[in-house]
Amino acid sequence: MPLIRSVSKAARHLLLKPPCGCEPLFHAVRNISDIPRQVTSSDVTYHSVSFSETDHPKVLITGGLGQLGVGLATLLRKKFGKKNVILSDIRMPPNNVYHSGPFIYADILDYKNLREIVVNNRITWLVHYSALLSAVGEANVTLARDVNITGLHNILDICAEHRVRLFVPSTIGAFGPTSPRNPTPDLCIQRPRTIYGVSKVHAELMGEYYHHKYGLDFRCLRYPGIISADSQPGGGTTDYAVQIFHDAVKTGKFVCNLKADTRLPMMFIDDCLRATLEVMEAPAETLSMRTYNINAMSFTPEDLVQEVQKHLPDLHIIYDVDPIRQAIADSWPMNFDDSNARKDWGWKHEYELPELIQTMLNFIGANSRLTHAN
Ligand SMILES: NC(=O)c1ccc[n+]([C@@H]2O[C@H](COP(=O)([O-])OP(=O)(O)OC[C@H]3O[C@@H](n4cnc5c(N)ncnc54)[C@H](O)[C@@H]3O)[C@@H](O)[C@H]2O)c1
Repeated sequence: MPLIRSVSKAARHLLLKPPCGCEPLFHAVRNISDIPRQVTSSDVTYHSVSFSETDHPKVLITGGLGQLGVGLATLLRKKFGKKNVILSDIRMPPNNVYHSGPFIYADILDYKNLREIVVNNRITWLVHYSALLSAVGEANVTLARDVNITGLHNILDICAEHRVRLFVPSTIGAFGPTSPRNPTPDLCIQRPRTIYGVSKVHAELMGEYYHHKYGLDFRCLRYPGIISADSQPGGGTTDYAVQIFHDAVKTGKFVCNLKADTRLPMMFIDDCLRATLEVMEAPAETLSMRTYNINAMSFTPEDLVQEVQKHLPDLHIIYDVDPIRQAIADSWPMNFDDSNARKDWGWKHEYELPELIQTMLNFIGANSRLTHAN
């Protein structure tokens, strides 16, 4: 690729100086002509002038209207400024989200459009949240394969080409029935039985491969089930642990679709979003690996019910087990070993089960009183 080789000496000097918050660009430059979807001559010119002049990263969040994206945008905007964090999705944003900061339509299956967004907005960090989750994915395998695998390929190529630091979340669902389940370490057998899990193992491996081959600054956390008060879960197997709070406050009755003794790792959303920011900010030399487990607590529906009943003693529970979700949960870790994250970049959760329950009930209770008052 003679055009690529002709990047000027001055530009090469700039390339060796990382733009804000990024690893040295040396590897990416060395291998840039190998990236599967290669740059064209006009892109090379653009590269030479596109390096960030700002001190803050410029962040794009894909799939940002799901359970986690809006909260992450709020956290990052507080730190980096409103205009430096762009939320994107293929759905219509609610009014409050639309008016809270930049929003853009971005379908991760549309490679050209995504590339334009990254280039035109000088994106330096990309948080890739678009996905079909476990239960939804099993109900639509073809779409899950497209979004979770083909979509990821688009993201990887664009981030490698434009030297964007990339965060992709993985999950407890990236493990399977042959993995050690209590606790599950970072490195062990991964033979998941869902398209969601298979696509997440693929994402972990492809991200690490791009890191080693092209110098992509890939960072990945395996999230446990995430519990949030002000956003709805998107069709995962751990959704029951969010729904119970809403039903407990509104109707006093909850139908649980998992067995009472199904133990799964869980985390409050604030811890999850903070972990995401912390791993993105961690100096590259502290990361001994590129994919880490993170954990906070581990409980069963029965444990959760008992704790909630301390606040709402009349809560009535019915177990009506969904065989598909139960089979998924039975193949997942019961507890996560996140000692590498704690050792390497200082991960530490703040919310244990009692604080989580208090926070959820306060938020949902206050909201429900507000709705009744209006
Ligand atoms: N929520 C959890 O408990 C949890 C746990 C582990 C990992 N994760 C991971 O975190 C990420 C975010 O999770 P979430 O709970 O917010 O998911 P979610 O299902 O609530 O949201 C996913 C978003 O992706 C969007 N999307 C779907 N197809 C798209 C496309 N073609 N282009 C662009 N966007 C598209 C959807 O519109 C949706 O808003 C996912 O990758 C998920 O696998 C979540």
